[in-house]
Amino acid sequence: MTAGRQPRSRSASRLGVASGEARAGPDWFDEGYRHIWMPYAQMQTAPLPEAVKATRGTRIELWDGRELIDGVASWWSACHGYNHPHIRDAVRRQLDVMPHVMLGGLANEPVFTLAARLAALAPGSLNRVFFSESGSVAVEVAMKMAVQYWRNLGQPKRRKFVCFDGAYHGDTIGAMAVGDPEGGVHGAVADLMEGQYRLALPRDDKTLADFCSFVGAKAPECAAVILEPLVQGAGGMLFHNAEMLCAVRDVAAAHGLLLILDEIMTGLGRLGTLFACQQAGVVPDIMTLSKSLTGGTLPLAATIATAQVFGAFLSDNPDRALMHGPTFAGNALACAAANASLDLFEREPRLAQVRAIEKRLSAGLEPCRGMAGVVDVRVKGAVGVVELDRIDDVNRLRARFIAEGCWIRPFANVVYLMPAFTIGEDDLARLTETVVTVVGEWSALRPFAREA
Ligand SMILES: Cc1ncc(COP(=O)(O)O)c(C=O)c1O
Repeated sequence: MTAGRQPRSRSASRLGVASGEARAGPDWFDEGYRHIWMPYAQMQTAPLPEAVKATRGTRIELWDGRELIDGVASWWSACHGYNHPHIRDAVRRQLDVMPHVMLGGLANEPVFTLAARLAALAPGSLNRVFFSESGSVAVEVAMKMAVQYWRNLGQPKRRKFVCFDGAYHGDTIGAMAVGDPEGGVHGAVADLMEGQYRLALPRDDKTLADFCSFVGAKAPECAAVILEPLVQGAGGMLFHNAEMLCAVRDVAAAHGLLLILDEIMTGLGRLGTLFACQQAGVVPDIMTLSKSLTGGTLPLAATIATAQVFGAFLSDNPDRALMHGPTFAGNALACAAANASLDLFEREPRLAQVRAIEKRLSAGLEPCRGMAGVVDVRVKGAVGVVELDRIDDVNRLRARFIAEGCWIRPFANVVYLMPAFTIGEDDLARLTETVVTVVGEWSALRPFAREA
């Protein structure tokens, strides 16, 4: 892979230039592109986005008829594949009855049913569900809950969070403040965030001892520890083991800190159990969910608290209530989709599918190990990662995957696969073979890329 940038057209008349071929685009593209601000994109140099016509199962059909095998599941959310008929039917039925009604003071069936179902599925006494519309907001709500929990208990000084290098919890201000701005994507606005305590994630005796002594010293000013259990996702697809998760839980508990586990990426099957924390037998005080909650069809997030946390908000004093209420909290369409998604977890062998994917990812990505520039190959559940020493031109690497008919989006220094749990054996094999091919090319051309 050479480091030079391709010249790029800003016009749909050259749509698909990233894959090396110019094609005519749809008529909505040019005018829309002049006005849209795309996520995570340097708009001056980013390749034009691929125009999507439709999605189906684990395939993305592009406007010009090409089809991509999806290795990303729309940022890890479309766990049942796209357009699952059961979710589609549930949303259609709900649309006819009531797409949305405010949750303040009004109840609707899908949201109440979903709250009860999530409470039954969540481990331990996690049984109070607060709904919002995105993962970042679910994290904000968890943080608010933790700080106010202590205020309600008469300890208002406990309002800092202990978080970890490599963490990613979302793009809103509070969520960014407990993420890792250096390793992550928020360096440009790092000044905006109130300082929290960010430490190395315990991975060995030394980092565990450091974590332990830090928490011991700072506990009186700390509300909670926040962590993505077992896999830190957008911070670099970094893994830690169940033993370390238990150790974090034990240290937090020993010093009275709440434990917030952000299962937005790991929860709902991605690591082979319904929730990642179950692999360690750890029950947090607060847990966040989103992404796969609606099978990736509609925006919805949940912040689930234990009975004990919820109890601290009960009072004759209105000031002790949790003052949060997004306009679209408990949106009936999204909750209908989430209930249908939970039906699928009950009726179809999702966790077994994830375990089969884990085996295929391990075998399929193994040839990358030992290639020059490959730092690590690791797999946990339906997360397969090839870590490179560096990626000089991520856009070029992404374009190679598209040219091979795969939707794979390397970032930072990782190439990863997180497909739908329903992906067929052949499509998964195509994804892993393509990773091996493209990483192999990258590995062979790497010295030249460095010189360019
Ligand atoms: C662990 C984790 N927390 C929070 C978020 C933020 O979710 P959203 O993008 O829905 O705001 C993400 C998104 O990738 C995530 O992976």
